[in-house]
Amino acid sequence: MSSSPAFPALPVQLEPLAHHGMMRGGNGRYEKFLGDLAGLYRDGAAFEAALSRDDGTPVYWVESSTPEEGEGALTVGLSVLEAGSVGDEYFMTRGHLHRKADRGELYYGLSGNGVMLLESVEGDSHAVEINPGQAVHIPGHWVHRSVNVGKTRLATLFCYATDAGQDYEIIERAGGMKQLVVRDGEGWTTRPNPGHRGYRHV
Ligand SMILES: [Fe+2]
Repeated sequence: MSSSPAFPALPVQLEPLAHHGMMRGGNGRYEKFLGDLAGLYRDGAAFEAALSRDDGTPVYWVESSTPEEGEGALTVGLSVLEAGSVGDEYFMTRGHLHRKADRGELYYGLSGNGVMLLESVEGDSHAVEINPGQAVHIPGHWVHRSVNVGKTRLATLFCYATDAGQDYEIIERAGGMKQLVVRDGEGWTTRPNPGHRGYRHV
């Protein structure tokens, strides 16, 4: 039996459980495994070595709530990124530019220690820390990626316009993001990615 979706869409109570890596009340989930991330890290030998030790659990995953579609609709979710590194690069998400590039996004840190790496197509780059209780408000037109620079899982709550869409290929075409987020003693720093060729739209 089919039924029409409610109008207006029904309110949703969400319960992000950062330490359990899940969010009650959502209706979507995806996960990324190390094997999905070939080409993301500069150090190919370190990546192959990590893959040979892989325990088959996801490197990062997202649980989300999208109660409605269309202009003005919001997607809210929990993003969880394990701690670790490949070579000297910390675990990170693939990153993207919104297909509707003017769509912004909010991230709120729930647990762990992260960095949002933000780059404009014109060549600006910013690395902004996101720790528990801190938010990063990303305006439109920024390529963005989360990086876990801590020793525990990074969990963030996010919100973006459902119609934003994600263009992951813009980073692949550019040879990766302009900056790498790498280990620096006990902390982190950025270093230029020698493979970066500049961003271009197609
Ligand atoms: Fe996004």
